Amino acid sequence: MSNISEVEVHWHEHAVSRAERELLNGNSGCVVWFTGLSASGKSTIANLLDHKLHQLGKHSFVLDGDNVRHSLNASPAILRGAHGEEFAQRFGLGFSAQDREENIRRIGAVAKLFAEAGLIAITAFISPYRADRDRVRNSLSNQNNTDNKQNNRNDFIEIFVDTPLEICEQRDPKGLYKKARAGELKGFTGIDDPYETPLNPELTLDGKKNTKELTDEVINYLKAKNII
Ligand code: ADX
Repeated sequence: MSNISEVEVHWHEHAVSRAERELLNGNSGCVVWFTGLSASGKSTIANLLDHKLHQLGKHSFVLDGDNVRHSLNASPAILRGAHGEEFAQRFGLGFSAQDREENIRRIGAVAKLFAEAGLIAITAFISPYRADRDRVRNSLSNQNNTDNKQNNRNDFIEIFVDTPLEICEQRDPKGLYKKARAGELKGFTGIDDPYETPLNPELTLDGKKNTKELTDEVINYLKAKNII
């Protein structure tokens, strides 16, 4: 396996600056990172937010758990046919702690590129581990970015969709909680796999409220921070 230090890889400065892209777009680039249990409402709010931003003439894009796990972060079962077993085992992702770590690492890297392109990247993944979310936060923090240091900006907006497990379980749109309770699905978040609540999120949404109201809370936050 080649090592990055053995390969000549150089970082290229962009010909168009981030500030120029943001000026053209009419919004700052950032990552709006929703986290919460399955069926907490992350995807619904993320898509409502995307729609609302679009209506306001802002530039955003949603990266969603179920969609990304069909493509960039496909499972071994999806990859096997086109790439063979060894490849599928090596690069396919499931739901072990390490696979979730890699899922979040790849999504964090893509979301960061979107932010640098002047987009509002909206992500909707359970992202159950604090350390995985914090790594994405750090990659976007002002310590690592001279542009950000100068502007004292924070590109990572962590939003905890705080919906009690009982409610997620009642909703159970894909019947997965039922399967997990029956022991047919192992390692399901909230049942027999951990969810680590954010300690210091930029925003916490009360998942018992209706999703339109919650979307407005996010819009108001983005306005207050001059992102839109
Ligand atoms: S994460 O933990 O790696 O962030 P992600 O958000 O990509 O998870 O995918 C979660 C979705 O995968 C759930 O909404 C559910 O539909 C499905 N899923 C399948 N197996 C599991 C599992 N063991 N734990 C949680 N979600 C699962």
